[in-house]
Amino acid sequence: MNNTLISLDGLKKIFYTDEVETHALSNINMSIQKGDYVSISGPSGCGKSTLLSLLGLLDTPTEGNYILAGEDVSNISKNERARIRNQEIGFIFQSFNLISDLDVEENVELPLTYRNGLSGDQRKKMVREALEKVDMAHRTKHFPSQLSGGQQQRVAVARAIAGSPSIILADEPTGNLDTKNADAVMELLDQLHEQGSTICIVTHDPRSASRAMHNIELLDGAIIADKPLSVVREEPVMETAL
Ligand SMILES: Nc1ncnc2c1ncn2[C@@H]1O[C@H](COP(=O)(O)OP(=O)(O)OP(=O)(O)O)[C@@H](O)[C@H]1O
Ligand SMILES: [Mg+2]
Repeated sequence: MNNTLISLDGLKKIFYTDEVETHALSNINMSIQKGDYVSISGPSGCGKSTLLSLLGLLDTPTEGNYILAGEDVSNISKNERARIRNQEIGFIFQSFNLISDLDVEENVELPLTYRNGLSGDQRKKMVREALEKVDMAHRTKHFPSQLSGGQQQRVAVARAIAGSPSIILADEPTGNLDTKNADAVMELLDQLHEQGSTICIVTHDPRSASRAMHNIELLDGAIIADKPLSVVREEPVMETAL
């Protein structure tokens, strides 16, 4: 059985602004397996968010191939991208990105309303289950401004997982949280991974990266290290923990 969920081959991203060309990603070759827990790290400006946007079909590569769940999605139309993104991708952002006019339940339901063939009852059930998973089922009628940062991020996680995506992409999901809330969100991602979710997280934090089983390091738009499970586990992880 082919267990590969994502495969990037010679991926390149150049941004053109006025007279300037920014080579954000130069020649990215990597794959993500189903059930993988990947961390992407590297200094500011090295291309982490750009890579995550490409993985999440928010943007298109300048060159190269992207195969997602067996389908070539490198050059598909904007509408197709939106449809596949809605179905396959769950996004979690550093700044939560909840909609302030919608309550918790409505925020989590929103992406599901763009899906065909789901009844209102089915949507409500998916929303309830997702909110239970993140322990926020007691706050369905609250608005984002009435929640703590940690709670808002848990709602954002519920929104990301409600539609059972193939992969959860998280860009610095704990960047705006204090240590306690950050740990709670990381615990939650661990649990989702244990329950079978595939996760890819961008992080500056070595503690967060050490939770992943597959560490990818970027520098100046290129992968300088790609360590899957066995290599990662062989490293003296305890040394940094002590
Ligand atoms: N929309 C854009 N237009 C032009 N240049 C961009 C755009 N997005 C990113 N860049 C450039 O691409 C490079 C990589 O940016 P990116 O946001 O991916 O970095 P990053 O690794 O996520 O950094 P940080 O850790 O600070 O979030 C940077 O030089 C940035 O200025
Ligand atoms: Mg970034």
